[in-house]
Amino acid sequence: GKTHYHDFVIQATPVKRLCKTHNTITVNGQFPGPTLEVNNGDTLVVNVVNKARYNVTIHWHGVRQMRTAWADGPEFVTQCPIRPGKSYTYRFTIQGQEGTLWWHAHSSWLRTTVYGALIIHPKEGESYPFVKPKRETPIMLGEWWDTNPIDVVRRATRTGAAPNVSDAYTINGQPGDLYKCSSKDTTIVHVDAGETNLLRVINAALNQQLFFTVANHKLTVVGADASYVKPFTTSVLMLGPGQTTDVLIKADQPPAKYYMAARAYASAQGAPFDNTTTTAILEYKTASCSSNCVKTNPVSPSLPAYNDTATATAFTTKFRSPRKVEVPTDIDENLFFTVGLGLNNCPKGARSRNCQGPNGTRFTASMNNVSFVLPSNFSLLQAHHQGIPGVFSTDFPAKPPVKFDYTGNVSRSLWQPIRGTKLYKLKYGARVQVVLQGTSIFTAENHPIHLHGYDFYIIAEGFGNFNPKRDTAKFNLVDPPLRNTASVPVKGWTVIRFVADNPGVWLMHCHLDVHIGWGLGMAFIVENGVSELESLEAPPVDLPVC
Ligand code: C2O
Repeated sequence: GKTHYHDFVIQATPVKRLCKTHNTITVNGQFPGPTLEVNNGDTLVVNVVNKARYNVTIHWHGVRQMRTAWADGPEFVTQCPIRPGKSYTYRFTIQGQEGTLWWHAHSSWLRTTVYGALIIHPKEGESYPFVKPKRETPIMLGEWWDTNPIDVVRRATRTGAAPNVSDAYTINGQPGDLYKCSSKDTTIVHVDAGETNLLRVINAALNQQLFFTVANHKLTVVGADASYVKPFTTSVLMLGPGQTTDVLIKADQPPAKYYMAARAYASAQGAPFDNTTTTAILEYKTASCSSNCVKTNPVSPSLPAYNDTATATAFTTKFRSPRKVEVPTDIDENLFFTVGLGLNNCPKGARSRNCQGPNGTRFTASMNNVSFVLPSNFSLLQAHHQGIPGVFSTDFPAKPPVKFDYTGNVSRSLWQPIRGTKLYKLKYGARVQVVLQGTSIFTAENHPIHLHGYDFYIIAEGFGNFNPKRDTAKFNLVDPPLRNTASVPVKGWTVIRFVADNPGVWLMHCHLDVHIGWGLGMAFIVENGVSELESLEAPPVDLPVC
């Protein structure tokens, strides 16, 4: 493969949205950031220069990073942050992945504006397993705050007070026609009548799962998270933050303008959310409108209601691999992880503005009752690689400490998360199954769970409490989809499988940003195998230290 060199300069740039200009952290002055295009098998070398006032790291979301965990990017997991004035070069090779991924800052709140698309074309000389699209367009769904997002996210992390309400959703950085001062900058995608194009849809939003649709057009799903899927046709997509979906769209409607639109899928009952709609325009270039075609107003789509779990589930359960795949069997590690929010008592003497949960509590989140805490003086990978003691422990529980009805509103005394930096150790080559069970301690909602460094098969999902006797019968061990982010349905569960063939330290977490801040994550250590080809590479010389 080829090697592609890029410079990413992290800097504050004035960006105007919703009638106001903010000094926004960008890459190379661009918002959203640059789109990177490579072929499967190519190497990327990205020199990140931090000219902003904040620490930063960049994560290549979904890239497997075989043996190159040092380039994965999550702050204090695989590296210390790149400090202001410093730089770090990420170097990694795309191996076996084709489709759409993306990159984003993985340092506190910065991914609000520091993100972009990573497009992986087939290996040189090879073609798509579907009709060759005329054009390809990244469609990045995002969120915009009419204030500095650092304040929004800091407050949310501290208190859990209504943080999630952004001021606009965006498509390719633009709120679109339905927002004030936005229509002249609305994203427009041009098409020629009759042609088939590929939309690479990415949910880069901070805290919101989103429905996406295009008025009057059918969408044929052909890929997700840089793996091909068995094609299926739908009128609406649902993406959790972190997920990507590639769709073919045929321009088979009367030449005109059609809205593409995205709006929240907010599964949590009673929690506040942004109920606005972002739009872009699909515009037929050959529109030769005479009398009866729409000249100025784009055709409006219909989107599901914000709480339409039936539509979201119907969509997520349609995914299949294109053909029979080798799903790991004879499982070595049978894990059961709960994912959900919770409440902790506020520390004595804390100011009440820091404890905005009910009855003097604060919001928290956990997996198996452990609220994940990152170290601040080492990265976990460095501590693991150099054998530095005291940075983490390896006693992350394989099962929750107590079992209860995860779908009911149980007493919080049953479930008081403890804080800790607990990892779970996997032998090289272990065949792993993880049941991800949503809990409903304080509120029930859908959680998009992302695993770094791996793709996994989603072999089943369902509602209620996972029941091994009943639910193993539903496992798809024939053609399940390969993903890097799985939606755990509200009051439900998802089962994933993977082979631990990539040594390193790998974060698994909810991709709703505010939930990571509350502790909804853990990390796996995957040990080296016997040969050098089964072992983590040496750290790069310019790896940032804390
Ligand atoms: Cu896209 Cu750990 O994240």
